[in-house]
Amino acid sequence: MPVKHGAGHMQQVDRKHTHNELECLIEQRTNALRSLSARLLRVQDEERRRLARDLHDSTGQTLTALKLQIASLEERLKSGQSISEVFAQTNALADQALQDIRTTSYLLYPPLLHESGFSSAARWYVEGFAKRSNIEVRLHLDSQIGRLRRSIEAALFRVLQESLTNMYRHSDSRLADVRLQSDQRMVMLEVEDYGKGIPARLLNQFKQTGTGTGVGLCGMRERIEDFHGRLEITSGSNGTKIRASVPRGIPNRSTEPAKSARAAVA
Ligand SMILES: Nc1ncnc2c1ncn2[C@@H]1O[C@H](COP(=O)(O)OP(=O)(O)O)[C@@H](O)[C@H]1O
Ligand SMILES: [Mg+2]
Repeated sequence: MPVKHGAGHMQQVDRKHTHNELECLIEQRTNALRSLSARLLRVQDEERRRLARDLHDSTGQTLTALKLQIASLEERLKSGQSISEVFAQTNALADQALQDIRTTSYLLYPPLLHESGFSSAARWYVEGFAKRSNIEVRLHLDSQIGRLRRSIEAALFRVLQESLTNMYRHSDSRLADVRLQSDQRMVMLEVEDYGKGIPARLLNQFKQTGTGTGVGLCGMRERIEDFHGRLEITSGSNGTKIRASVPRGIPNRSTEPAKSARAAVA
């Protein structure tokens, strides 16, 4: 029966077509992930180098100055000179070193995030960001949200950091709005700026293949998808909006043990 044979043939061609498209998509995604991990390793190296330099240049210098002051205190004490002025300077240097370390360690992993949750850490971060960058950031935090799973809070915090850093580096906007909302099922974080937007070619390439950008956008998307969430990016000549939505209750894919495994351990 030639007609049936013909239809079957068409179906087969269709299926083959879809199959090829799927394979192509999978290959694209695998390549994007492979290139992301390579770039992440590079960024990790760069970050370590920057940290080492920061530690050496700021905290190291302050501690060296502190040692000199202590030596000078010793001299003065021995020769019976007044120490009150040197003493005050020494104290100020110790304060400076503490402040340097606090800022660096807070930026690496804010203790507030773990202790008090996303909203407190976001308030602290945004305040510091606004001071450092001279950019106004309006925070709209739904006060009913309460605590989320720690790993979700950490992922959202990284999205906030990266989006604000991106807006500072790339957008030319002097203003941003940060919104956190939630219902029983989903929590949603939005970071919006009013700058020049992500170049359309770059954004399209990123949306289609996950490539073409730095690790910032890819990393945010991976983090959010790890929680079965979605990262949506809308951008044009009036600005950029990054929206991360994550289900509140589902365990993430890669790190959290399954319930049964947890029960077995307990
Ligand atoms: N808020 C923004 N406004 C304008 N352009 C942006 C914004 N965020 C990202 N971009 C563009 O997208 C690119 C990729 O961002 P990202 O993946 O974070 O990498 P990186 O910040 O390291 O360049 C940036 O280089 C920039 O061109
Ligand atoms: Mg970036």
